[in-house]
Amino acid sequence: MYAEIKPGVYWVGAVDWNVRNFHGYTTKYGTTYNAYLIKSEKTVLVDTVKAGFEDELFGKLDALNVDRLDYLVVNHIEMDHAGSVRAVLERYPDVKIVTNVRGKNGLKEAYGIEHETIVVKTGDRLDVGKTLTFIETPMVHWPDSMATYVVEDKVLIPNDAFGEHFASHKRFDDEFSDEEMGVIFRENAKYYANIVLLYSKQVRKVLDDIQSLGIEIDVIAPSHGIIWRKRIPEIVKKYREWSEGVAEERIVIAYDTMWRHTERAVKEIVAGIEEVGVDYVIYRISVSDETEVMTDVMLSKGLIVGSPTLNRELFPSVASFLTYMKGLKPFNKVAAAFGSYGWSGEAVGRITEIFESLKFDVVGSVKFKFSCDDKREELRELGRNVAERVKG
Ligand SMILES: Cc1cc2nc3c(=O)[nH]c(=O)nc-3n(C[C@H](O)[C@H](O)[C@H](O)COP(=O)(O)O)c2cc1C
Repeated sequence: MYAEIKPGVYWVGAVDWNVRNFHGYTTKYGTTYNAYLIKSEKTVLVDTVKAGFEDELFGKLDALNVDRLDYLVVNHIEMDHAGSVRAVLERYPDVKIVTNVRGKNGLKEAYGIEHETIVVKTGDRLDVGKTLTFIETPMVHWPDSMATYVVEDKVLIPNDAFGEHFASHKRFDDEFSDEEMGVIFRENAKYYANIVLLYSKQVRKVLDDIQSLGIEIDVIAPSHGIIWRKRIPEIVKKYREWSEGVAEERIVIAYDTMWRHTERAVKEIVAGIEEVGVDYVIYRISVSDETEVMTDVMLSKGLIVGSPTLNRELFPSVASFLTYMKGLKPFNKVAAAFGSYGWSGEAVGRITEIFESLKFDVVGSVKFKFSCDDKREELRELGRNVAERVKG
């Protein structure tokens, strides 16, 4: 069933209840592919749905008696939003595409689509009965990313920004309980941490642009998950904070182990943290979901990573996580490293190098030959020092 957002502005997307892995990102609550229809003097579709979900989109367009489409706005060419562009063009051959220059090129490069296109840039307006205006948001999170704004209705359609992977038959934030919203905000943080974090500088610019252009917002209608109309200040504040590296007084301890020597050290580090009284979470990486660990890394001020040395290198699961994390460029972290080794002991140095490349505030490191028994006090001190820095 479609949903009316404002008179003449509708959600016409698809709900994907069963997707559990989205290009490696775990989606335990499924997701939605949000497309929007604006019915005024002209009829406009903003974004499409992932290929395979066309029938859900077209069913809603039929229910809204859309027998002619004038414009198809492509805010983002990624496959979950532009995967049905070709199907839309086949169904409505007279439609004109509206996108920015990178979107136009991307449609050709990724899909071989060359079709009549109106190329827009930030500030351009399109009169469709209502007024549409466009804000390019390059690298939030692809070069082609763009937001569409329905001026009269104050509806911002920012594509992936402000979205989260969350399937529901409910569409709007005010339909969910506070408890459910807790889950949704966590999913939103997860989306930011795993998809957007690397582009925090660009996010800050977009937030500044929205402010300086004096754009008033009644509704934020992202391309995944719920539509914001009640908690807009809350979600905008969170985006501002995440993009500025504001985090909570909490420490993530992420480690792995073969013979449990590295694991035993966690107990000592935790004892030090508890002396100072700072919150913490512990993840053994090989049995954890990296996208959840990454979420907590973003949300926490402190990070302590432990790895045994294997073949003069990091343990593979730790290396995998650190490679993933490094790509997302978290910042403003207080950090420390630890780990067990047998003879050469390279792993702890490797962790520290990665922390330094991210300009983390590295408090220290402790490595120990096999057992940590004679390093227990040093490990406690490491925990205390990180906790004090996080608290300070
Ligand atoms: C296959 C294998 C390769 C290893 N390679 C190294 C190495 O290159 N350098 C080193 O210092 N220790 C090496 N070790 C020893 C481990 O780092 C050591 O046993 C350590 O205590 C393991 O920590 P854990 O109990 O937390 O797994 C190796 C161990 C295994 C099983």
